Amino acid sequence: MDQQKPSKKRIAVIPGDGIGQEVIPQALKVVRASGADVAFSEFDWGADRYLRDGMTVPPDGFTMLGRDFDAILAGAFGDPRVKTNIHAKEILLGMRFKMDLYANVRPVRLLDAALCPLKGIEPRDVDFLVIRENTEGVYTNAGGVFKQGTADEIAIQEDINTRKGVERIIRYAFEYCECHTKLDGSPRRRVLMCDKSNAMTHAGGLWQRVFKEVGGEHPQIETQHMYVDALCMQMVRDPRPFDVIVTNNMFGDIITDLAAGLQGGLGMAASGNIHPGRTSMFEPVHGSAPPIAGKNLANPFGAILTAAMMLGHLGLTREAAKIEAAVLEAVRQKKTTQDIGGTLATREAGEWVAERVSS
Ligand code: NAD
Ligand code: IPM
Ligand code: MN
Repeated sequence: MDQQKPSKKRIAVIPGDGIGQEVIPQALKVVRASGADVAFSEFDWGADRYLRDGMTVPPDGFTMLGRDFDAILAGAFGDPRVKTNIHAKEILLGMRFKMDLYANVRPVRLLDAALCPLKGIEPRDVDFLVIRENTEGVYTNAGGVFKQGTADEIAIQEDINTRKGVERIIRYAFEYCECHTKLDGSPRRRVLMCDKSNAMTHAGGLWQRVFKEVGGEHPQIETQHMYVDALCMQMVRDPRPFDVIVTNNMFGDIITDLAAGLQGGLGMAASGNIHPGRTSMFEPVHGSAPPIAGKNLANPFGAILTAAMMLGHLGLTREAAKIEAAVLEAVRQKKTTQDIGGTLATREAGEWVAERVSS
C-alpha cells in the first residue's frame, strides 16, 4: 500500500482592502468545500492596518511568505483614505518585485455566451492567456521629478527592460504554450508578442530580438507580433485568433482589463503571479472597487477561479477542476451576482458554489 500522504499545503491569505475582504472569504469557503488539503493563515496587511499603526509589510514579511507558505492568496489593495496608495505599492508590488514573481499569468475564458458583450461569440471562441512581465518596465518607478511645482517641472518615468527579464518572460510564454492545451483539449499553437516597438524603439528592439531568438528555439510554435493599439482593436472585433499573448508590465495590465470585459467584466477574471519553483501569489484581476465595497454586491467568481488556479498550481488539480465546474454551473443557472445578470449577493453566490462543490 502506498503510505505516502500528500502534504498539507500552507496558504497565506491577504484579503486586503474593499471588496477583497468580501470575495476572499467566499474563495476560502469554496476551497474548504472542495476538500483540498490546505491550511490557511490570514494576514491583515492593507489600508486599515496601515491607517492604524503605519505598517504595510513587516520587516521580514516577504522572507516569511517565501519560507513558510506554499502559495499566497490575495484580494485587492487600494483605499480612497490612503491617497498615496503607498500600502498597495508596498504590499502588492512588493510581493511581485521582492519575491521576483516575474510571470503574471492571466487566463481569459468565456464561461457562457451571455457574458460576452460581443455578438455571436461562444465560449469556445475566447480561450487565451496573457502572460505579463511582472517585475520590470515602468512599474519599477525609476525616474524622478525635478523642479516640482514650478512651470519648469520635469517628470521622468523610465521604462526598464533587462535582457534577463525580457528573455525569461518570453521563454515562459513559449514553454507555457508547449505544455498546455486549450479547454477543449486541443494544443496551444501560437505565441503573440505585443509591444509598441514602432514608437518605443529601444525597449521594443530588445523585445523583438529576444522574441525572434527564443521563437527560433521552438519551431513547432507559430509566432506573431502585434502593436498594442492594433491588438486592442482586434480583441474587441474578434478575439478568436488569440492563443498565448506575451507582453510587458504596463501593456499586460491594460489589455487584461480589456480582456476581462470579454469574460463578463472584472468580477470574472483570475490571475497568478508566478516564479516557477517558488512561493507564488494568486489574486483576482480586479481592484478593491470602493463604490461597491461593504455592500455584499461584489462578484466573488474572479476570486474563486483564482483560488482554483492556485490549487491547480499546487498540484491539487481534482479540487481545482471541481471548483471550475461549479462556477461554470452557477453561471449557466444564473446563480450569480448582479454584474453578470444574476440576483444573488456576494455571500449567496459563494455559498451556492461551495454547496455545489461539496455535493
Ligand atoms: P476596480 O477593479 O476596483 O473597479 C473597476 C470597476 O469594476 C468598478 O466599476 C467596480 O465596481 C467593478 N468591479 C471590480 N471588481 C468587481 C467585482 N468583483 N464585482 C463586481 N464589480 C467589480 O478598479 P479601479 O476602480 O480602477 O480601482 C479601485 C482601487 O483598486 C484603486 O485603489 C486601484 O489602485 C486598486 N486596484 C488594485 C488591484 C489589485 O490589488 N490587484 C487591481 C486593480 C486596481
Ligand atoms: C493589477 C492592478 C495593479 C497593476 C495596480 C493596483 C498597481 O491594476 O493587478 O492589474 O497595475 O498591476
Ligand atoms: Mn490592472
